[in-house]
Amino acid sequence: MSSWEALAAEIRGCRACLELAATRTTVVVGQLPTQGAHVLLVGEAPGANEDLSGIPFVGKAGQLLDELLQEVGLPRETVAVANVLKCRPPSNRKPTTMEANNCRGWLTAQIAVVDPALIVAMGGTAVEWFFGKGAKIGELRGRVHDKAGRRVLATYHPSAAIRFGPRGMPRAALREDLATAAADPLVAAAWKVSR
Ligand code: URA
Repeated sequence: MSSWEALAAEIRGCRACLELAATRTTVVVGQLPTQGAHVLLVGEAPGANEDLSGIPFVGKAGQLLDELLQEVGLPRETVAVANVLKCRPPSNRKPTTMEANNCRGWLTAQIAVVDPALIVAMGGTAVEWFFGKGAKIGELRGRVHDKAGRRVLATYHPSAAIRFGPRGMPRAALREDLATAAADPLVAAAWKVSR
């Protein structure tokens, strides 16, 4: 069994958050393509569609994400995807600080297993996970940051892009940041070595 699968099995057994363990349908561990990945996208938490399917970003936000990834030349099949929380918060409420802390070790372990050349943190919850409470996407986005030895891009969540519409700033910024990830020289270098 790969270390991703071994870790996934452990994550699926997690009951650290009593409410989430009682209300979830599935534990949405994340996705790692079989050939590996050099970009890891990090979102907030599964929604209703993800909770039912067990797959991250398959609802409306996921459809927009897939579209933008395709447009910038970074197809979904080439990236790893994970969330700060692996279980759906009831009614899609925001994860609590305690839930994010309970789940922190899982994402930390996933980052170690994937060992991506670049991480893209999408939305406030993921951005705060990497940059700390109060971190502002508007101030951080547009360049790669070094966070504890990991290269991290901060950007808007696809659901913000939906909320502000096709001509809104978050969609344009998200697309631009995904294009930056697609063109990242260290990602390209990692593919050369691993092929
Ligand atoms: N929103 C997220 O942050 N993650 C998902 O997997 C789906 C929607």
